[in-house]
Amino acid sequence: MTAVALTNVSKVFNPGRPDEVVALSGIDLTIGHGQFVSLIGPSGCGKSTLLRLIADLIPATAGTVEVAGKPASRARLDQEYGIAFQQAGLFEWRTVQRNVELPLELRGASRAERRARAAEMLALVGLADFAGHYPAQLSGGMQQRVAIARALAVHPPLLLMDEPFGALDEMTRERLQAELLAICAKTGTSTVFVTHSISEAVFLSNRVVVMSPRPGRITATVDVDLPARDDAARQSPAYFDAITEVRRALRGDAAAAATS
Ligand SMILES: Nc1ncnc2c1ncn2[C@@H]1O[C@H](COP(=O)(O)OP(=O)(O)O)[C@@H](O)[C@H]1O
Ligand SMILES: [Mg+2]
Repeated sequence: MTAVALTNVSKVFNPGRPDEVVALSGIDLTIGHGQFVSLIGPSGCGKSTLLRLIADLIPATAGTVEVAGKPASRARLDQEYGIAFQQAGLFEWRTVQRNVELPLELRGASRAERRARAAEMLALVGLADFAGHYPAQLSGGMQQRVAIARALAVHPPLLLMDEPFGALDEMTRERLQAELLAICAKTGTSTVFVTHSISEAVFLSNRVVVMSPRPGRITATVDVDLPARDDAARQSPAYFDAITEVRRALRGDAAAAATS
């Protein structure tokens, strides 16, 4: 069983109207359990649309979307995934703890279970001491960690992230990247991660999926095989080679990327 399987998926917005947009066309993508896959490509190439299809927030126009071996709609009802977006999207009037408890409340978990799970998740993202704080009392990086804790609160096997670190400064971003990898390794979570950043995609991913716009298509996939994902990895030849390969693929030099 795979974490995500898309077969010949297309998405057309406003079909048959003057403002019709073919956002995605002929998308085939399979993501194995525990894999970390990044989607990268220019603005408007359909990255967010692809993520929303996997999350069943919008329906595909054609093709099939499966999550955890079942139709995306079933997977959504079963809470098979958690989502984190660029803006942390926390509720300002709820404490950090009660923000993390929210998906558990929606699931009807008992108060004791919610408390225990929220404490576990906040410890995981290094915010155990901030459970009683309100979002406005936290830095942007801390808010984003709360959003990740919330996304993981129901222990979903799959994490969907849309430019979650896009609004953060470079140093905070690198620290959260390392933390995210540690969390995914510890929990065995599969991840689909949307980013604009080549270096971020390469550092985090087993596989980088390169997309091009109009219509949105997958033009290349680059496998990234780093011996470790630490600060030393950011200096390694394998890291720089993968960055070059993704950059070439983004330029449309896909043939060169495939043979290099
Ligand atoms: N709800 C929508 N209605 C109409 N067009 C949309 C909608 N959502 C996205 N699009 C269009 O689909 C294309 C892909 O958008 P999107 O997935 O947001 O790209 P990305 O995340 O890669 O920047 C764009 O041309 C965008 O304008
Ligand atoms: Mg987007």
